[in-house]
Amino acid sequence: MFSEFVKTPAVGEWISPADAMTLAIQEGAKGTGYVSPNPLVGCVIVDSDHCFLASGYHKRVGHDHAEIDALKNLGDPSRVAGAHVYVTLEPCAHQGRTGSCARALAPLKPASVIYAVEDPNPLVAGKGAQILREAGVRCELLSAIARPATAGSGAPEISSEDCTELAAQAEELAEIFLHNFRAKEPFVAVKVASSLDGKMAFLSGESKWITGPDSREHVQLLRARYDAIAVGRNTFVADNPSLNVRHASFPGFVNKAVVFDPSGKTLVAMQGSNLTSVRPPENVLVLVDAKLSVQNPAGVRVLKVPMMEEGAFMMDELFAALRAEGVHSLMIEGGSHAYGAFFNAKKVQRLHAFIAPILMGGKHGLAWTSHFGGASMQERVELKRVQKQSFGADEYWTARV
Ligand SMILES: NC(=O)c1ccc[n+]([C@@H]2O[C@H](COP(=O)([O-])OP(=O)(O)OC[C@H]3O[C@@H](n4cnc5c(N)ncnc54)[C@H](OP(=O)(O)O)[C@@H]3O)[C@@H](O)[C@H]2O)c1
Repeated sequence: MFSEFVKTPAVGEWISPADAMTLAIQEGAKGTGYVSPNPLVGCVIVDSDHCFLASGYHKRVGHDHAEIDALKNLGDPSRVAGAHVYVTLEPCAHQGRTGSCARALAPLKPASVIYAVEDPNPLVAGKGAQILREAGVRCELLSAIARPATAGSGAPEISSEDCTELAAQAEELAEIFLHNFRAKEPFVAVKVASSLDGKMAFLSGESKWITGPDSREHVQLLRARYDAIAVGRNTFVADNPSLNVRHASFPGFVNKAVVFDPSGKTLVAMQGSNLTSVRPPENVLVLVDAKLSVQNPAGVRVLKVPMMEEGAFMMDELFAALRAEGVHSLMIEGGSHAYGAFFNAKKVQRLHAFIAPILMGGKHGLAWTSHFGGASMQERVELKRVQKQSFGADEYWTARV
């Protein structure tokens, strides 16, 4: 996610195979916020000498896929003959809301189509590549072009290390889609702002502001990645959060907010809250105990979800309720009880932790990890592909869980 940025070359400028795939990944990320439930996908086309021709990306659900966008940006399809096409996800084989990308590319006779990640959709997996191969196009998964496997063949080559890294980045680009397909569950991210000693609030509930303005601005960008932003009812009461996307890159962006509130006590306070003043009430989803009948004066969406004896919502039913509302990804922004429920159920896929260089101290301050793990090393949560970045004085850590 934080790889070296590749500038889009001028048409006719040489670009290395590794940079072409990096550029395709960067292109794909431009669709953030607008493609759900589809994947973010980017595409780069270079000529037979590896000089840049065009790039494209999937801009919006129901609109052109990345390959078609790149072809349109290229203008003249005859220029694809003998060219190399880099795409972050296997070209689709099937006719969905839009046509098959593999069938659009095949008659144009590119010399090769290199894709970074195989599509897990059974309608596509391996079939897009097959359509291209049957048309005589060399179509390879990125790992197959790793040097030295094809050294000296004259076809695009990328070092084994770069292939592994680029495949991992392409997988991260499409991680929400891939998880939805593989697990048949929404993708869950956790975002926390904590002190260096792991505290997210004082006993009084005071938590503003632990991190600085640069971190908080980045959170606005992160919010656009997910279909909904969720909090527990204590956080709703303590902070009256908006949970919307306030960033110049996303003008007028309207997202969904979720509140976990078994007793439905927040429903009265929803009227006039920041959650309902920044988005239509039907975009606020309040999850309550399925056994309750509740008053809903603000007209928000009340989702009735059965509870486990321990007082948390049943996870399968919670996910089913969210998917029925079109929520394929969720970022939980607190508090510690909400984090605990998802970590304990092993349902967190990504962590976004903003760590401020302050110590909040005290025995009773709220540690963000206080409701999961803690009994033995066996309960530890392992983080993979940890990446770090500074935002002002804060350190931002993101990792796969
Ligand atoms: N620094 C940060 O990043 C940050 C972020 C957010 C919040 N905060 C602070 O954290 C504090 C609140 O944290 P908290 O741990 O006390 O509360 P919380 O997690 O916000 O809310 C806890 C309550 O929400 C309900 N809940 C949450 N997850 C649930 C689930 N999976 N199933 C069923 N019910 C669920 C339960 O309600 P019932 O009690 O009705 O069962 C639970 O007691 C506030 O002071 C806030 O300012 C800090």
